[in-house]
Amino acid sequence: MINQQLITKIKSAKRVAVLTGAGISAESGIPTFRGAGGYWRNYRAEDLATPEAFARDPKLVWEWYAMRMQVCLDAKPNPGHEIVAKMESYFPEFLLVTQNVDNLHARAGNTKLVEIHGNIFTARCTSCQKKFKLEGVPKQIPVRCESCDALARPHIVWFGETYDMNLLQSARSFLLKSDLIFIIGTSGQVGVPVQLASEAIAHGAYAIEINPENSTISNQVDMHFANSSGEILPKIWQEIIEK
Ligand code: OAD
Repeated sequence: MINQQLITKIKSAKRVAVLTGAGISAESGIPTFRGAGGYWRNYRAEDLATPEAFARDPKLVWEWYAMRMQVCLDAKPNPGHEIVAKMESYFPEFLLVTQNVDNLHARAGNTKLVEIHGNIFTARCTSCQKKFKLEGVPKQIPVRCESCDALARPHIVWFGETYDMNLLQSARSFLLKSDLIFIIGTSGQVGVPVQLASEAIAHGAYAIEINPENSTISNQVDMHFANSSGEILPKIWQEIIEK
């Protein structure tokens, strides 16, 4: 419920973190992973999103990512992304930690952004490790390194891989001192992001979750809006601006 107490809580927050998952992009037409029509309902992660799958068949893996890149390019940020972008300039200190690789937060205008699972429009060389941007869906598959021509891979954290520890640490150090955290559109099935949110809450952050369904973190939050983010975030924001 958007009551005065909640509005006051949000307006007085100085250091605000947002953790997002696939649900925030659902209203932009990008499938989630585990819900109805989700990627992992129709594809096997073992075939497409592991280092072993890539070693076995890089062309197949790139084709799947190229298909998803096209879905992302066809999509536009929705009102949920737009409010998260507004939050960045409203709060004195702000960090957005996203599990999404779809680039929609950046397209909505967020710059204080940590993409802990990578970005679908970035490739990484398997030999020299150079990262480089892909401006659109690659014409040549599998993609080769723009510098050394070795095989490149999507810059995505796959199952069985470790996170970029520097990124994770920068997110963690912000989150542990946050006074407010929004947890939006994640099932909480992937351990590391949920652990970050859980630690922020344990260190005193007031937690607002937005998800039509319960997640693995719902029992730890202070307030749960069982709504879609594109619908409820503009309503919350309207109250913040008006009151
Ligand atoms: P999931 O597909 O596991 O969960 C999506 C969540 O979004 C669910 O809890 C839905 O209830 C919720 N949801 C759906 N529509 C929504 C809406 N309109 N507004 C708000 N919430 C909505 O996706 P993630 O939790 O993001 O990893 O999955 C985590 C990771 O698993 C992904 O980053 C991906 C995947 O394997 C990588 O790609 C590395």
